[in-house]
Order: sequence, then structure tokens, then C-alpha cells
Amino acid sequence: MTAMTSAEIAALLGQLTDAEKVALTAGADAWSTPAIPRVGIPALRLGDGPHGVRKPHDGAGMSMFDSHPATCFPTAVTLGSSWDAALVQEVGEALGREAASHGIAVLLGPGVNLKRTPVGGRNFEYFSEDPLIAGRLGAAWVRGVQGTGVGASLKHLAANNTEQRRYGVNAVVDERALRELYLTSFEHTVMQERPATVMAAYNQLNGEHCTENSWLLRDVLRGEWGFDGVVVSDWGAVWDRAVSLPAGNDLAMPGLGRDDDEYLLRALASGALARADLDAAVTRILDLVGRYGGPATRDRKPVDLAAHHRLARRAAAAGTVLLKNEPVANGSAAGRALLPLAAGASVAVIGAFAQEPRFQGAGSSHVVPTRVETLLEALTEARGAAQVRYASGYDRTDNTTSAALLAQAAEAARSSAVAIVVVGLPETFETEGVDRPHLRLPESHERLVATVVAANPATVVVLQNGSPVELPWLDSVPAVVEAYLGGQAGGGALSAVLVGEAEPGGRLAETFPVSYATHPVSAMPNGPATVEYRESLYVGYRYFDAVGEPVAFPFGHGLSYTSFAWTDASLVVGADGASAVIELLVANTGERAGSDVVQVYVHDVESALFRPEQELRGFAKVSLMPGESERVSITLDSRAFSYWDPAKHSWVLEPGRFDVRVARSSRDMVWSGSIGLAGAGAGGPDGAGGVEGASVPTGIPAYRSPSRERGFTAGDFERLLGHPLPPNTGAWPGQYTLDTAVRDMRHTPVGRILARYLKREAIKTIGAPEGAPVDAVAADVVAQLNFRMFPTVSDATVSRRRTEQLLRLVNLLSGIRLPGTRRRS
Ligand code: BGC
Repeated sequence: MTAMTSAEIAALLGQLTDAEKVALTAGADAWSTPAIPRVGIPALRLGDGPHGVRKPHDGAGMSMFDSHPATCFPTAVTLGSSWDAALVQEVGEALGREAASHGIAVLLGPGVNLKRTPVGGRNFEYFSEDPLIAGRLGAAWVRGVQGTGVGASLKHLAANNTEQRRYGVNAVVDERALRELYLTSFEHTVMQERPATVMAAYNQLNGEHCTENSWLLRDVLRGEWGFDGVVVSDWGAVWDRAVSLPAGNDLAMPGLGRDDDEYLLRALASGALARADLDAAVTRILDLVGRYGGPATRDRKPVDLAAHHRLARRAAAAGTVLLKNEPVANGSAAGRALLPLAAGASVAVIGAFAQEPRFQGAGSSHVVPTRVETLLEALTEARGAAQVRYASGYDRTDNTTSAALLAQAAEAARSSAVAIVVVGLPETFETEGVDRPHLRLPESHERLVATVVAANPATVVVLQNGSPVELPWLDSVPAVVEAYLGGQAGGGALSAVLVGEAEPGGRLAETFPVSYATHPVSAMPNGPATVEYRESLYVGYRYFDAVGEPVAFPFGHGLSYTSFAWTDASLVVGADGASAVIELLVANTGERAGSDVVQVYVHDVESALFRPEQELRGFAKVSLMPGESERVSITLDSRAFSYWDPAKHSWVLEPGRFDVRVARSSRDMVWSGSIGLAGAGAGGPDGAGGVEGASVPTGIPAYRSPSRERGFTAGDFERLLGHPLPPNTGAWPGQYTLDTAVRDMRHTPVGRILARYLKREAIKTIGAPEGAPVDAVAADVVAQLNFRMFPTVSDATVSRRRTEQLLRLVNLLSGIRLPGTRRRS
């Protein structure tokens, strides 16, 4: 098929029967829309995404392991740390080529949700805690993929920031936080790149499931942002198409079974589903099939996998963050920073991750790589076997250590000039489907670091993880490299960075708190029914900088092997009086080629509404040879100075003074200038103008001047929302709803039976091989499932009607209470 005009689409629509239209609004199987050969409509295949192509072998259904090999690029956390849109676009192009070669017309990515909390199990799949980075890099990814003729699927709209009870939890978010943070990355990507599809998230947003949320899908996404592509549900997120179609969710994935089509036909006949809503969805689906089901995926071209592997390696180095690099006081390496490694220095490589790396996240994004480079191999090749010793330090399978393993590690460290310890988060510590309970490394990894640094102070700690960890040993270790999840070529990239062939090009796109306890979200209730975003705008560095809380490493931080001077800064107001341009000269003053990231933060000096201390509003990545310099110019448009006024429901640029800070991190300001802006339309949906005075609550102290001691209480949040909080209860015996997660039923016998059944079904569905690490976390992952997911998890053998019957039965069985007994509260 090829792209069609609207008249051609209308003509095709006219030829379809009701049954065919209904069928087109749900998957024919886990990955494809139905084909209708009678009128020449082919099936369209979708596939994960986002850092590599996951195409299960025929018959393998939703398997996460039994799939065709594909290049595993660094995950979004690593790409996010590159702050490099051009690089992310290149990766997108490679992903598009590989998707096309597998016949995949729509690649499921990028994920542009924000990392609201460092424990988010899926943080590895997202770019940043800041919407500017997530939006720019998300847009670059879409640009790259769609440039090859393959469509993208921007996910997961919206406020999908926790994996706990992810299928039904209600995210309660105030209007400003939604607009200024959680929707911004989606808005930017949609408006800049027109992704083929947007994926509606599992969770509820302010009381309505995202797939049934017409405010989100119709008013905002289509109405305000002009999105004209297909809204596809996250897999299993649609419960009732008679509700989700009118709300704006066009395509329900995966298939829902024939019964469900019959049900929808009845809804159409009775008028419960308006024909216009069905036709609008089918029109968009036909347009998608026409645009993306064409030549890109039909005329499959061979892919240069070797070139993609090299690109994956370059991207991994670009996202590697040098967190710390100090001289050692004594020993053979004394007096100089440890990295890059001195030529000729013998090296002890310690930690099983050096041989069996953690290089990607676990869950739906899991890629079967075309090959895997390990640090040990790559470093041995770079340095020669005689210079490199290895000790595993811990068991990769069960994450334990022993006196013998620690003794071997200490011995290897002692007998080498430098020790490199590779630790991090094993798959069971961090996965899609469940959040982490804490930020600690496995105890065996902690003990290994302590043992090695005691044996040899010249120790470099290398971290492989998808999100921040606590670093209790930080003061005792001179060098720390955050390698994140580097993809299949991560080992080669890491070796090149350690020996200095490549530079560590990354800067943190998230804050590393000292401990989870210092993070505001750690003190907030999470479930069973709601997750309250009480901190509002104070997400990530917006919180830490506002309260002056010490952090282990600030947002934006990252060291270089070379040095840069930033001079000749200037700041001018744009001709419209509502924007500004900042310029400066960046010079590489060291002896190596390298890159630097200029970060621009805006501080609103006086504001009618509360604002964070500062917010990232512009950035530029500059690569320079030694002695070279470049003039960097960063434009801040009116939106960079504006806030969302919840009383006016529009963007407002309040006239007044703004400080513009040029910085190396949110805590390392290099230059600051001040400007006065007259205030003008901020380019919001309805182009609202200046504000005369705020018409919303402004004086809530927790938000005006947040403090760690005070925190964010339910009462403060209610005042901010302007209405009472929805009850955060449920899941008592007899009170189960479609949104009750199995974890909240486990205290009843029937809940335990369901948990066991779901675990068995889920392991079958994802095709986990015997003994795969996923087995160990499967119980926690399935515990997040709710009744709405039963048809998907059971591959439609438990239909929607059956699920409803089951829910009634379960309520009946578990709800029997003796007279006079009280409900738990
Ligand atoms: C994930 C999506 C993914 C889909 C298909 C869902 O569980 O949330 O990100 O694209 O599965 O695998």
C-alpha cells in the first residue's frame, strides 16, 4: 500500500463492512493490525523498541527472549546522558533501517516519560528527569526512525512514572506540573516531528485511564497539539473499546479476541458507540497503513550490522559519565588522576559484569543482540593479556560473594597498578514492571568495592545500572565511571574510555541523591489506588536545588579528560521582548579532543506563582580539538520564561526580571546575566498574553519555599489542586475493582491463587527460558497486574465477560465478613 489522499481513504472506508471496521481497531495478534485482502488492506506490524528491534520468531507471540537478533543500542538513560540530539537521530536512523529489514512498520518508542523518582523500574528506558532533554532527544529519535520510512510510537502518554500497580494506578497531578513537566516532552515531540502514533499509557491520569481520557487524547493531544496520527493503546491498556474509541484511542493492542468484536458490533448497533467515532478511528488507521505499510518495510534491504555495532559503541562512549577522577595519595599510581589509565600500567579487572555485562534493561524492550563485547575482552585486546588480570568478585547468577572470591579480588588488586571494579544493578534489581524498593547495590557488590579499595587505593569503580544508586564508599574511591547500560558494544566503549581512546562524553541527565531517604518522593504514599504527585514542580534537581539538599552528583554533572574555558558571554533580549539569546565562546584548553555541554538555566526573580529555583531551558553539546574554540549561541524562546497559569489554562509570560545562568551542572554555575522581559504571548495553545496578577493560590508555603523538614503534605497538595484528594484506599476484601492489583489481594486465599495463576501465565507469555533471572522477579512483576489485564495475559482465553464474572466471584468469596467486624483502614 502507499500513502493515500483523504478522498482515497474515504472511498476505502466506504467499502468496508462494520465488522471489518471493528476488526481494524484492534490487533489481529500480538503485533499486527488485521489484513483485509478483499479491499487490498495489508496487515501492519508494530514492534518494540526502543533501543533495538524485538521481533519474536514466528509462533513466539509476546516472547521477550525468543526473537530475531538485532543491534542492541545503549538504552535511553545512556543516550540521554549524551545530551546529543544529532547522535540520537543517527541511532534512530539505524533503528529504522533494522525495523524495516524485519518488516516492522511502526517501532514502539521513544519513551519520553520523566524520571519522577530514582526508584522507577523503567527509568533506564527514559531519557531524563527534565522535559527539555526528554523532548529534544525524543524528537531526534523520532526524526531518525521516521526518516527511514518507519513510523514511531511516542510513549507512554501520560504520567506513566511508576511501575507499581502500573496497569491501573491513578496518577494525581496538578495542572501546572502536568503542563510544565509531564506533558512537555510529548508536546515538543508531537509538534516537532509528527510521530506516526502515540501510545496511551496503562495508568489513570486524574481519575481516568489514559486510553479513556478524552481530555488527554482529544482536547490536548489532537486539539491543542494538532496530532493527526493514530493513538495506540499500551499492550492491554484498553478494556472497553466502546469507551476508549470515543475518547480518542484508535487502536487497541494486542488482539482482544472475536468475542470482543461481536460486543463492539452490538454497541454500534445499539448506538452505544457512535458510528462517527468508529469511522474517525478507522480513517486514521487506514492512513497509517497507507503511509507506513509501504515500501520501507516491503522492499527489505540488508542492514550493515557491523556499522550499527560501531555506532552503538560510539553512542555508549558518548553517554558514559565520568563522575569522579582524582589523584591517588600513594601507591604506584600516586600523584595523577587515575583516568585515562597510564600507558603500561597493569590492570586488575574485577567483577563478573566485566565478563557478563549488564548492558540493557529487562522487560518489553529486551533485545537479543547480534553480538556482545565485554570489558574484559576489549581491555585485554587493548592492553595485552600480560597486563590484565581478572577476578569475578561475585557470582553473576545469584549476586552473592564469598571469602574466597573476595580474597582473589584483593590479591588481583594488590598485584596490579590499578584496580577496575565493575559493579551495578543485576537484572533482578531493576526491571520494567516493578519499582526498586531502595537505591542500594547488591550487598556483594558493596563488599567487593570495599575489599578492592582496601587492597589497592588506585581503584576505579565502574557502574553498570539503569538508574541512580547510593554510593556509600564514594569518599574512599578516587575514580568513578557511570557506564549506565551501554548496549551490546558497551564493553568496547568502556575499554576505549578507560584507556583514553574515547572520551567520556556524558553528563548526568538525572540527579544522584545521597540516599533515597533524601528524595521527596520516598516519603509519599504510593498506592493502593493513587499515586499523589505532591511535589508538583519540584521534580529532580528542581527540588534539590530549591531546598539546597546535598546530592551525591548533581544533574548535568560529568567530568572530561580535557579542559574547557567558557568566555565572552553575552545575553540579549530578543526583538519581541519575550525571548533571549545567550552567546559564549567555548575553547578546548587541554591536550585532548573532547566535548562539553553548555547548560542554560533560568531563574525567575519575582513571580506571582511559585517556581523552582531554576530550570534547564537550553543546552548545546560542543566537540572540539585541542586549542580549538567555537562560539555557541543558544536561543531561549518565550516559553523558556513562561509558566502555565491554571486559572487561565494557558501559558503566561509574566513581565519582570529573569536571571539566565550558564552552567556545567545545576550546581556549577559559570556565568549569570539578568534581563527584563516585557511579557507577551508565550506561544501557548491559545496564545495568552501577560498576566496582571495571579488568580490561583500563591501562598502555600510548602510550594513557595519548600523545605526538607516540611515536605509536601496531603493538605498542601489539596490546596494546590483546589479540591479534595481522591481516596487512596480500596482492595479490601469484597471491594475489588477492575483496577485492583493482585498485590493488594495477596492477603486473601483467593488473591494468592490468582497470583500463582498469573505468574504461570505471564512466564509462559514472555517465554522466559528455564532459570532466566526474570523468574526471580516474576512474582513481583505479576503482582502489579489488575483484572483489566486478564484478557491480555491469558491471550484472550479469559474474555472480558469472564473477567467480570471472575471479579464478581472473587468479591463474593473474599468479601464475606462476620457481622460486627471492622474493615481494615
Ligand atoms: C510496554 C510497552 C511495550 C508493549 C509491547 C508494554 O507492556 O509498556 O512499552 O511497547 O508492552 O511490548
